[in-house]
Amino acid sequence: MIANAEIKIEKIAHSRVNEYDVNNVPFGKCFSDHMFIAEYSDGKWGNATIMPYQNVPMSYAMSALHYGQAIFEGMKAYKNADGEVNIFRPIENFKRINKSAIRMAMPEIPEEIFMGGLTELLKLDSAWIPTSDSGSLYIRPFLIATDEAIGVKASETYKFIIITCPAGKYYSEPIKVLIETNFFRAVEGGVGFVKAAGNYGRSLYPTKLAQQKGYQQVIWTDGKTHSYLEESGTMNLMFVLDNTVVTPALSDTILAGITRNSVLALAKDWGMNVEERKISITEIIEAHAKGTLKEAFGVGTAATIAQIIVIGYEGKDYALPPVEGRQFSNKIDDTLRNIRKGKTADKFNWMYPVK
Ligand code: COI
Repeated sequence: MIANAEIKIEKIAHSRVNEYDVNNVPFGKCFSDHMFIAEYSDGKWGNATIMPYQNVPMSYAMSALHYGQAIFEGMKAYKNADGEVNIFRPIENFKRINKSAIRMAMPEIPEEIFMGGLTELLKLDSAWIPTSDSGSLYIRPFLIATDEAIGVKASETYKFIIITCPAGKYYSEPIKVLIETNFFRAVEGGVGFVKAAGNYGRSLYPTKLAQQKGYQQVIWTDGKTHSYLEESGTMNLMFVLDNTVVTPALSDTILAGITRNSVLALAKDWGMNVEERKISITEIIEAHAKGTLKEAFGVGTAATIAQIIVIGYEGKDYALPPVEGRQFSNKIDDTLRNIRKGKTADKFNWMYPVK
């Protein structure tokens, strides 16, 4: 782990935390006192600094803005009843950002920069962590190309930045989703598995069209045949068909979600049947008709467990069973919350203490 002394720390003169009710702020709109930045140039990382959250000067020719070398992560920190701070599975985010970096021809981030910056930042800003039941501190690490240059080539300089914001629910209500069969999110050989800014940018137009029809999100289908379900706008997808938990198998078109992995681990631990495989639209529509489609929900860091109440497909809405009766996803939601808040034993060692 990076030693304290290797990170230059410039503390804010007066904390802004009392200007907010951190247990009651809109998602992603209010940022904590400090941020972490490390810089990459001449083939090495350096200048690791924690500084007051601020706008940083940048060139309008900065290559991330033009050629899309921009990747990010999302994770959350929680406070338990004793006021101790724990981050949910941050090593997984560390590994994933480096997989994204390799695919985007960006430099990998050393563990001591990622984890050292993260822990020092959280130590300073722990007062920003909500204590409410559904509250957490959302952590956004990101890596951007910073060469001041027009011309398509991998940048030679980068900044790795971590900012954080207190967060409650991303979706305040169960959602209606539309199966998207005109546009696609990712194809084989592409960057679907990468948490690349561009993957989200390209999703906005189809999502806007779905929202105009009254849905909150789309469900992406495979780019070749538009017949298999992939993931939803901000999260992976899960279904309970009869008593089996079914989710699309990971591939290079699907983000390997850390919440997804955690839900599957819990389901297996509870002795449930779990299937990671292709799921066709036809299978879901038929399961709905037969009454075997018991639950549908999205899973993600920001979204946590987002219940799906309606699936739209080709002009028809398929209403799903009421959320209250959904045994599996409600139990998962409670269990994850209790593990994160230190109310249930963390038998998988998912919580990473910030000390
Ligand atoms: C997350 O779940 O952390 C995400 O990054 C999804 C979204 C907020 C972009």
